[in-house]
Amino acid sequence: MKKYIAISGSLRMNSFNTRLIKATQELAPVGVEIEIADISLFPLYNTDLETEFPEAVQGLKNKIEKADGIIISTPEYNRSISGALKNAIDWISRPWGKNSFAGKPVLILGASVGAIGTAVAQSHLKQIMVYLDGHVIGQPEVYIGTAQDKFSAEGVLIDEVTREHIKKALEVLVNR
Ligand code: FNR
Repeated sequence: MKKYIAISGSLRMNSFNTRLIKATQELAPVGVEIEIADISLFPLYNTDLETEFPEAVQGLKNKIEKADGIIISTPEYNRSISGALKNAIDWISRPWGKNSFAGKPVLILGASVGAIGTAVAQSHLKQIMVYLDGHVIGQPEVYIGTAQDKFSAEGVLIDEVTREHIKKALEVLVNR
């Protein structure tokens, strides 16, 4: 059994990115478990708080360190990643010398209502992940534009082409 931790960069209840993460659970290859992380309780990063790592942060760091890899679905806010996601990444990269992303395969996804499907945000995220020595999957890229047309009202990913594409991306991740 391989295990992956999935992070959505959106805290919104009906987030397309959280729905996309839920779709990866449904579309995962046999023998693969994907657990959805909760970054909503992370305080704003402050070095002073490192004297005692917040429970929510330490819990996720422990899970990532045990996992076979990470999936991140990012929204695009003003042509970059969300503040919530950057905050979570900053926490998980700390303390100095104990960056939990190092050496982990990372699959990056993103959904947006715009036409380019978070391409610019993902470009920033890939840059951050390479610095943190996450092993970013270069291909296939997963840009989900006009997300409002690809999910049902109940939040299920219904676009067949997108579903097949995500299945392929997950296969690549699992074979890393
Ligand atoms: C956006 N949105 C957006 N979309 C995009 O394609 N490029 C962008 O640069 C931005 N910028 C942006 C900034 C801010 C502050 C907000 C709130 C929104 C729209 C965005 O794609 C849309 O709100 C998505 O629904 C966000 O993802 P979730 O929350 O559905 O996962």
